[in-house]
Amino acid sequence: MNRRRFLAVLGGGAATAVVGVPLVVGVRGASSTGALLPSRCPLPVPFTRPLTVPAVLRPTRTDATTDYYTVTQRPGTAAFLDGVDTRIWGYEGTFPGPTIRSRSGRRAVVTHHNQLPVPVSVHLHGGHTPASEDGFPTDLLFPAGFAGDMSMAGVMTHGTRDYAYTVRQRAATLWYHDHRMDFTGPSVWRGLAGFHLVTDDEEQRLPLPSGERDLPLMIVDRSFDAGGQLRYPSIDGTLLHTPGVTEPYGAGVLGDVILVNGTPWPVAPVAAARYRLRILNASNARRYRLALDPGGVLLQIGTDGGLLPAPRPHEAIELAPAQRFDVVVDFSRYRTGQQVTLVNEFGEGRAGQVMRFHVTGPAPDGSSVPSTLSVDTALSTGDSVATRTFHFRHGTVGGAAGWTVNGEPFAPDRDVARPRLGTTETWRLMSDFHHPIHVHLAHFQVLSRGIGAPGDYDHGWKDTIDLRPAEEATILVRFEDYPGRYLLHCHNLEHEDMAMMAAFTVA
Ligand code: C2O
Ligand code: CU
Ligand code: CU
Repeated sequence: MNRRRFLAVLGGGAATAVVGVPLVVGVRGASSTGALLPSRCPLPVPFTRPLTVPAVLRPTRTDATTDYYTVTQRPGTAAFLDGVDTRIWGYEGTFPGPTIRSRSGRRAVVTHHNQLPVPVSVHLHGGHTPASEDGFPTDLLFPAGFAGDMSMAGVMTHGTRDYAYTVRQRAATLWYHDHRMDFTGPSVWRGLAGFHLVTDDEEQRLPLPSGERDLPLMIVDRSFDAGGQLRYPSIDGTLLHTPGVTEPYGAGVLGDVILVNGTPWPVAPVAAARYRLRILNASNARRYRLALDPGGVLLQIGTDGGLLPAPRPHEAIELAPAQRFDVVVDFSRYRTGQQVTLVNEFGEGRAGQVMRFHVTGPAPDGSSVPSTLSVDTALSTGDSVATRTFHFRHGTVGGAAGWTVNGEPFAPDRDVARPRLGTTETWRLMSDFHHPIHVHLAHFQVLSRGIGAPGDYDHGWKDTIDLRPAEEATILVRFEDYPGRYLLHCHNLEHEDMAMMAAFTVA
């Protein structure tokens, strides 16, 4: 299960391991790069099950500086489909995992126990985190007593380890997920993902919708087999030896059932009042264009790295994998009893719907969205000390087709850049197909897209940028606080697992 074996498998010409790009998708007109994996069971009926919100994890203890949590990663079951227990892998055995809530400035130490049959690595996505705690893909937590191949491990722990987060960052909608080398896609597909919400004084002073009117929504697409179990085209279903997916899924796996917080096409009762929706696209490869039907404004207040300086109204929001958009929807615009559907204008058939809100009637609403949300701290090109170019392309990985950064597959011990700590750099990112490009450690600002200004969805502090086919974007990235080795990668998880990832060291 090490990279050498992966390369050997690909180079050996094993037909099943060859990664191809189906030419019908991702080229023109298609909204996602990937292939549809159809379910083999009758699809659930939309808008029949209630939306649930993941449980908030209680600290096991707290002291003056730190909140301590314990998370056990274990197999569990989920009731996605009527009358079927679907086997999953979950943080605390649930899909999604529990939500962790942190206050900026207070440390969070999460003790993870691994009771899964595979090694894991936990990454806090969007976290401004010391390198040792960032969940590097070879920094592995093995199950206690694991007897298999450990040659892939860089840092090795067994049974239990702590991830210590400093949480020195702005309020933002973060999420945590598995990041094991070569096997992130299938592990997240099985359920290893959860929210980690950070708040701060600036956000707490705002009169935004809160409490039950602040809804985290994790959107994923999944497919099910005839028995109602999760379907994923792994070459090796044990997720222990040979990485990769069978053809034609090397460009990305698209499911045909849309789950929100683990429920297919749920329905949520809402008062005729403002709600904050923290939308996360945790799908492996699917992009969404979300809109309300009947139409209404999605008032964007935040993104990956927290609040925007000022709200931005949208008719629709486009989200690539891993991106977050915090929006406020005012349901008082609708009449009592009205059904308001969150649709996906990029989805064909049933993937064109996401969830439904049922407006229950008038209710007091003390919330509002101020015209100034947060203090803008724009990075400036004048501060940039270096310019680097990264090409994200289909390419040769160990003699066969795969995904590359600057023509090279991921190698955990090779750096593609060595930014100086405390400096700002300009990164030019170029794509062939859809590639949602994610940078660890540092949130960034989008400077330009093509020869134009940033796009409609590029505003604020981002950690993932949605690159469309044959596109170029320029971002400004500031490397602060923590030296060490971090990652730059495509967040289409099939691309990531098939080597579209690179390490950089901040020194
Ligand atoms: Cu969301 Cu490197 O990951
Ligand atoms: Cu990340
Ligand atoms: Cu990609």
